[in-house]
Amino acid sequence: MISQALNDTLTLTGPGSEAGGVMRRYWQPAALSDELVGDRPVVPVKLLGEDLVLFRDSENKLGLIGRACPHRGADLCFGRLEDNGLRCPFHGWHFNRDGQCVEQPGEPEGSTMHERIKNTAYPVVEKNGIVFAYLGPGEPPEFPNFDCFRAPETHVFAFKGLWECNWLQAMEVGIDPAHASFLHRFLQDEDPADSYGKQFRDKAANTEIPMTKLLRDNPRPEISVEQMEYGMRIIALRHLDDEQTHVRITNQIFPCAISIPMSREMIITQWHVPVDDHTCYWYSMFTSFDKPVDKKLMRDQRLKEHRLPDYAPLKNKSNNYGFNPKEQKNETYTGMGLDINVHDQWAVESPGRITDRTKEHLGKTDVAIIKYRKMLRAAIASLKAENTDDLPMLNGVDPKSVYGPISNDTIGNKSAWHEAFEVSDRERRSGCHDWDANV
Ligand code: FES
Ligand SMILES: [Fe+2]
Repeated sequence: MISQALNDTLTLTGPGSEAGGVMRRYWQPAALSDELVGDRPVVPVKLLGEDLVLFRDSENKLGLIGRACPHRGADLCFGRLEDNGLRCPFHGWHFNRDGQCVEQPGEPEGSTMHERIKNTAYPVVEKNGIVFAYLGPGEPPEFPNFDCFRAPETHVFAFKGLWECNWLQAMEVGIDPAHASFLHRFLQDEDPADSYGKQFRDKAANTEIPMTKLLRDNPRPEISVEQMEYGMRIIALRHLDDEQTHVRITNQIFPCAISIPMSREMIITQWHVPVDDHTCYWYSMFTSFDKPVDKKLMRDQRLKEHRLPDYAPLKNKSNNYGFNPKEQKNETYTGMGLDINVHDQWAVESPGRITDRTKEHLGKTDVAIIKYRKMLRAAIASLKAENTDDLPMLNGVDPKSVYGPISNDTIGNKSAWHEAFEVSDRERRSGCHDWDANV
């Protein structure tokens, strides 16, 4: 358990906050590219407690500016998308993608007042289906060479979902490998042939064993963590017998993302981004190593479970997440259906908007959570001391030199599991050498 003061330090991310200061040093997902299609590509964005509006101008370039008009505060999400910018419908003030006011049509002829009016504006970059924004000071950092960014657009599918809780509890589920044997337990195994686009439904590597069975039969993983240049590698070992060990490698990518294997074919890179302190979005890039992603199928699967335009899940607190006691007895551990996302959503939302960590009791299997909080505290202390020594990828390491990270499931010899996952990952990537051409 931790003190209330520390819980506040780690969870609050609005302007001027400590953890928010760390988040603002990194690119954060602001919207899906899919949200900007159509006749009027203008969407509201709330990110780290700031109200913004994202738009694509007539040069096809993106702008992310303050949502409240600097004149008298009207909502620029209703702005007229014209003259290569956004014009406030109240008195016609016109803003370009840098937030500069370029015209005030109602002010006296020859007025230069507009030259002194600048709205908030943040840099944005589009990468494989996600628009990333940088809300921090100075020049934004380079993007690392992660697989999800290097892969061609055809091999990456992006989606998002709204969770009604603080970002940290969402992240802490993503770095907790123990829960997969319980929260996501299936009491009966499905045919792995139907597993496309779903997590934990494939066969375990080099075997005919469904992952659902492997996780169910081996609920006590040995978990360890290794500090990496991007954050942390999390290793979960499940010893199947005296010789064979199942290795699952997942990652924490500092400050608020994870990278995990989804199936034999795909990995997931997922950001847990604060909307405000009580709500967050998960943004996922599903990256396929082998062949192009079936984006239509992946999108259709997920749109059945979410409502637009806010990507809120249809199963939620108001309908008890679809809880069915009969199903809980006979089919799934949660009784909340087969969609793993709903299980995770219940796990992160049910403790309340901000988990009361003064009452928690962390065990041995929570080692990655404990380590992550230390990393975040070190990063906060670093910024207080006006340096970036403890900010992964901003501490002198060139982000471009950071590849991967390896996210993998494999089965290897009990004493040589380290080599086993390296070999397995090399094999999986063998067709991806030309990805560097996309950098
Ligand atoms: S409030 Fe926007 S132009 Fe007046
Ligand atoms: Fe999960």
